[in-house]
Amino acid sequence: MERTLIIIKPDAMQRGLAGEIIRRFEARGLRIVGMKFMQISRELAEKHYAEHVGKDFYESLLAYITSAPVIVMVLEGNEAIEAARGTIGKTNPIVAAPGTIRGDLGMETGRNLVHGSDKPESAEREVSLFFAPGELLSWQRDTERWIFE
Ligand code: RTP
Ligand code: MG
Repeated sequence: MERTLIIIKPDAMQRGLAGEIIRRFEARGLRIVGMKFMQISRELAEKHYAEHVGKDFYESLLAYITSAPVIVMVLEGNEAIEAARGTIGKTNPIVAAPGTIRGDLGMETGRNLVHGSDKPESAEREVSLFFAPGELLSWQRDTERWIFE
């Protein structure tokens, strides 16, 4: 089973879309194993988005992600990283496919509602940035065998 870090970003929180976004991941079959409501500090944002240091959108990205509270989740499942990225859609909501979170709910790259880890190494790094091991719960749903063969 793979784990991925999801952030419901400040624009989604401001627009009251957190429930809608969580619903889509849950309905897909991804299992929630961690969740918290928090406001990301500048320091944590710098660590999380370290790969983007120096890019022209870096400062506006940090301002955006720290601008209001977020919900951070760890989701688990077979190929959870790719599954979550598929449900989220392409970075630019204008070209994200209809049916994806960004394609259905967003209009601009700088307001794209949700973050999902992009590969296993990123997921591991990001999960440990936001959660202590004791904050993640291993559990089985009674529906598990109807989602995973
Ligand atoms: P994320 O990390 O948030 O899941 O998004 P992503 O993988 O689809 O995109 P990434 O390339 O990692 O970019 C991180 C976030 O930076 C903002 N961004 N703005 N204005 C721009 O050209 C630009 N490019 C990226 C977006 O908020 C993007 O999600
Ligand atoms: Mg990314």
